Amino acid sequence: MTMELLPRRIPVKGTLRPPSDKSITHRAILFSSLVAGFTHINNPLVAQDTLSSRRLVESLGVRVEVNSNEWILSSPGPTHWLAQTREIDCGNSGTTMRLAMGLLSISREPRTLIGDASLSKRPMERVAKPLREMGIFCSTTEGYPPVTVYHGKSIRGITYTMPVASAQVKSAIILAALQGTEPTEIVEPYPTRDHTERMLQQMGITISQNQNNIRVEPVNRWQALKPVVFHVPGDPSSAAFWAALAALVPGSHLTLRDVSISLRRTGFFLHLQKMGTYVNLNRQADDEQIGNITIGYNPLRGRNVDAAQVPDMVDEIPLIALMASQAAGETVIRGAGELRVKETDRIRATVENLSTLGAHIEELPDGMVVQGPTPLRGGEVKTFGDHRMAMMLAVAAATAHGPVVLDDEDSVRISYPTFFDQYRLWQQGEVFRD
Ligand code: S3P
Repeated sequence: MTMELLPRRIPVKGTLRPPSDKSITHRAILFSSLVAGFTHINNPLVAQDTLSSRRLVESLGVRVEVNSNEWILSSPGPTHWLAQTREIDCGNSGTTMRLAMGLLSISREPRTLIGDASLSKRPMERVAKPLREMGIFCSTTEGYPPVTVYHGKSIRGITYTMPVASAQVKSAIILAALQGTEPTEIVEPYPTRDHTERMLQQMGITISQNQNNIRVEPVNRWQALKPVVFHVPGDPSSAAFWAALAALVPGSHLTLRDVSISLRRTGFFLHLQKMGTYVNLNRQADDEQIGNITIGYNPLRGRNVDAAQVPDMVDEIPLIALMASQAAGETVIRGAGELRVKETDRIRATVENLSTLGAHIEELPDGMVVQGPTPLRGGEVKTFGDHRMAMMLAVAAATAHGPVVLDDEDSVRISYPTFFDQYRLWQQGEVFRD
């Protein structure tokens, strides 16, 4: 459905708890299938993407009981996964498909993973290649989904230097490595989010991290894994839209509460701080991975982004481009070629949409150059079915000088189903008290 967004420069105020973290929820659901027994997930993200992961583990025989804010999952364990489901639909979710390629390589039963039109255009050889090196059977369809995967004769431990920085690829290799005949070592070009390592450690698996190197010890007995209670904090990538809005509208002062603020997820907020915004990260005393983020408006100045910074804000780069269009001076974003293979080509989509709204923005093969500040005008923009594009454009609309028409609002169901409800409350001048 199309949606007209009227310009409203209303300050963003109060306290907001963003929806739960998508990356952590996916992992909690998928990893529950490894434990013969119960896994508890407190505050999972209930959205289309994480429901794809839920469907996947249910097809393996995992039962899910929903108890208000808690999910209790009981799995038969990998040696008793159901064999009958041969084709599993991962919907729009790249995280489900890529992590599942590693997970399902544990099983001797071949399974085929399919996805929607967008996921069917996303590259899967980056996962298939290291899995094949490990001796796993893994086929793609000319590099794309459908993919078929199963345990070959045995799984070798390997040393693998990843050509691209991707937490999804790293996680798939880690999962396959759990069944290796020897340890596996992974070298990343730049460190990426480490939820997989931390959560598997919680389950009793031995994984060590040293800067860009990860070493995974195989699991001898699945029965040795510990039943775990995973607490899912708020998602910094969803919080980022409100932080951006607060940073753009004078008079704003917003606290984002109970957010996952691990080093690998806070790149956007630290970058905003360097652009001039008031940003305060307040870590929780008993868990430094979780905390509150307070944002206050201040005039912005442009600040470049390079390849080493990209993984820590990979999903927030379109927002950085928007901020740059409102900041003084030039911003050059490089080393962000990965954006071209997200839910849509996010470099092309960002440049096309922000140009429509009057921004001075140029496309580079691996990034963008933005000159600011430029007042934005209204116009008709395209989400390309991408949830993060829809929300970035809604933030842009708030600062534009005329109505912005989105071609579709439904994609926000992927990661942030209540986004437009909260957006409307903010438009009505509500102070958030969440
Ligand atoms: C994710 C990793 C990132 C990110 C995606 C979620 C994850 O993808 O863009 O939204 O949960 O591991 P890449 O690992 O492919 O960069």
